[in-house]
Amino acid sequence: MELNTVLQSTYTCRYYRDKTIEEPKLKRVLDAARWGPSGGNRQPVSLVVIRDQKKKLALQELYLPLWEPYVKGVEEGDIKISARDSNMLRDADHFARNIAKIPVLIKVCARLGDVHPTDTNLDRLSIVGGASIYPAVQNILLAARSENLGSALTTLLCAVEPEVKKLLEIPEDVSTAAMITLGYPLKDFPKKLNRKPIEEMCWGENYGKKVF
Ligand SMILES: Cc1cc2nc3c(=O)[nH]c(=O)nc-3n(C[C@H](O)[C@H](O)[C@H](O)COP(=O)(O)O)c2cc1C
Repeated sequence: MELNTVLQSTYTCRYYRDKTIEEPKLKRVLDAARWGPSGGNRQPVSLVVIRDQKKKLALQELYLPLWEPYVKGVEEGDIKISARDSNMLRDADHFARNIAKIPVLIKVCARLGDVHPTDTNLDRLSIVGGASIYPAVQNILLAARSENLGSALTTLLCAVEPEVKKLLEIPEDVSTAAMITLGYPLKDFPKKLNRKPIEEMCWGENYGKKVF
């Protein structure tokens, strides 16, 4: 599949078919994670692949209480959203209530001792802390698309890391960075994602100065 087609149509899939992912296909998607860069090539990322029904249900049960306050906030008018976002809310709500039915869940883990953040002395949240982890995640999403599989990157469950670690027997020195869902999508892939034009996010020489 052409690279630009993959880049422009790797969307967040929230509706899946009840169809098992073939083992060689799944292995190719997971293998893509290995090729992401990491600081000092320390390769801190590891993956837990979850297909067991009981475990998937347990993860759904951890996810829902984190998701539901958001829906309530919108319903009660505390959180304002656009018409487009209200479609997303409907889709994300369906997703949250059906996580256990998605064929494969991937818990992305990282050994924090190996992530090498260079911005921890600044008076702000570390961004570099994730920089050795999320290239592997994006590789999985893109590889899934190239295999005609849908995927969704989620981070809500990171808020209940101790419970997730217990469920999946993740060692003490390993943290959780995301959960990726994987399966055959129910709907067609989008032709193009909804993203800002390049003129709104790419500057020349100085921030804010036109480059194109
Ligand atoms: C860091 C990150 C965390 C996200 N967490 C969640 C999540 O917990 N639940 C969810 O339904 N979607 C999650 N998303 C998906 C975003 O909502 C989605 O990427 C965005 O709305 C754009 O939609 P698209 O990917 O289909 O273009 C997350 C995306 C990112 C990049």
